[in-house]
Amino acid sequence: MTTPSTLAPIGQSRPGSEWWRTAVIYQIYPRSFADASGDGLGDLPGITSRLGSLRELGVDAIWLSPFQRSPQKDAGYDVADYCDVDPIFGTLADFDAMLTAAHEAGIRVIVDLVPNHSSDQHEWFQAAVSSPPGSPERARYIFRDGTGANGQEPPNNWESVFGGPAWTRVAEPDGTPGQWYLHLFDSSQPDFDWSNPEVQEEFRRVLRFWLDRGVDGFRVDVAHGLVKEEGLPDYTPDPHGGSMGGDSAKAPYWGQDGVHEIYRDWHRLLAEYDGDRALAAEAWLPTVAETALWVRSDEMHQAFNFAYLETDWAAADLREVIDESLAEYAAVGAPSTWVLSNHDVVRHASRLALTAENPQGHGIGPNSPGQPDPVLGLRRARAASTVMLALPGSAYIYQAEELGLPEAIDLPDDARQDPTWFRTKGERYGRDGCRVPLPWEADAPAYGFNTTGDAWLPQPEEWSRLARDAQEGDADSTLTLYKTLLHARRAHTLGTGTLSWLTGYDEDVLAFTNGDVTVIANLGAADVDLPDGEIVAASEPVTGRSLPSDTAVWITA
Ligand code: GLC
Repeated sequence: MTTPSTLAPIGQSRPGSEWWRTAVIYQIYPRSFADASGDGLGDLPGITSRLGSLRELGVDAIWLSPFQRSPQKDAGYDVADYCDVDPIFGTLADFDAMLTAAHEAGIRVIVDLVPNHSSDQHEWFQAAVSSPPGSPERARYIFRDGTGANGQEPPNNWESVFGGPAWTRVAEPDGTPGQWYLHLFDSSQPDFDWSNPEVQEEFRRVLRFWLDRGVDGFRVDVAHGLVKEEGLPDYTPDPHGGSMGGDSAKAPYWGQDGVHEIYRDWHRLLAEYDGDRALAAEAWLPTVAETALWVRSDEMHQAFNFAYLETDWAAADLREVIDESLAEYAAVGAPSTWVLSNHDVVRHASRLALTAENPQGHGIGPNSPGQPDPVLGLRRARAASTVMLALPGSAYIYQAEELGLPEAIDLPDDARQDPTWFRTKGERYGRDGCRVPLPWEADAPAYGFNTTGDAWLPQPEEWSRLARDAQEGDADSTLTLYKTLLHARRAHTLGTGTLSWLTGYDEDVLAFTNGDVTVIANLGAADVDLPDGEIVAASEPVTGRSLPSDTAVWITA
């Protein structure tokens, strides 16, 4: 039942109706998607082999988390060579083959770009460490002398997002204790100095490298972090704020004004290419209004709507964030985006049933308080996705949310790989639970992730019933729900639509129209009477005209 895309053919420009304004973009986390080589880690040929199922699902584009050459200290977000494929994922020829196959299937491809930091194995960082303080090699990163006697204290008090200090001291080439370098993330991820023209030029080269190969855009990692405040002043984050920039005060390393010049430069560079290439900002900022600054008409094209992702399952809060998003992004001429899950947060089929507060990046494990009820979590996730996919703008789906996959909570400690787990000595579980290899076939080794049965993180036993093949053709499955929603989203052109709230419903109910589709979501306890019309999608089977709790429907006149 694939509905033909209403987007411009790939490669064509359509000013004002660019594809990214309305696209449904599916995030692939390459190491966990599909493994053609059988080594337990997903790869590019694996992606190519499974593109048919994404076409059937009805997505417009895919975004690939990093597959570039990397020692994999942070699952590829530590890049050692920006213009090559890591051998665990394949080769550049595999990338080209994947891109061609995706384009032939009508699917655009966005790749991850990690400009805030490189791997410590990047040749530039290796050169920096073996060069003296003050050298041009060091000037590509943020090296500073330490404080205290003999410089044994870090240059300031900044902490790494993954826990522990944001500075590591190097030994100078002669073996004496030396300068410190900044890493907002793991010590294997040194931050670039973006005031250095050499860094700026290098990333222009990287952008061109992938644009020349034919990619349709970039998801820009830590897009709010590239510029640091002059003088690197001390800063203590609000313990209740998000680790990635949810503080009310402005951290001297998040959201600095100078960062926008970089994206204006990149905007101009992308505009030299045909086919409406796009930049999507991963920018964790305190407010929607601030995030909208990243997508002013001469900057990036999209920004992830983390405010939406972080909103509790509560109708009034959702109404507020939806209204705010539509207004703030419209004010700068950008589409709003919508997202519920990604590789950094607890999967929404678990998160929406958490009873304890759990900010992004901290994860849940067997000993976490407020363990989610899996039945309630899935029910709410299906309702939440039914609401999200009815909203105008562009939506992101994280791989296997269309299977209703929950967080893998019971991973054994010795299987965990997220640097957060190590840097906090197990205090924070981190993000491994949302990164477990996907179940494709209920009865195959590794559930069809590969043919050998190896998987870099163990797959929970109960996932066999969530496998894609077990859900195909089942009218009540989450996969069928997503296919129905994506098909109807295209058929009713909801991406370009306009949202109007309906009155006359209880506070606990989300009720709106987008074009000729009426959406009713019941977040309260009591049943809700449905208006007349045909139910074209329902997050749970609905009998009669009564909508039960934690259920959402689309109705057409
Ligand atoms: C982004 C990525 C995350 C990574 C971090 C450092 O937040 O999404 O996975 O660990 O940046 O690159």
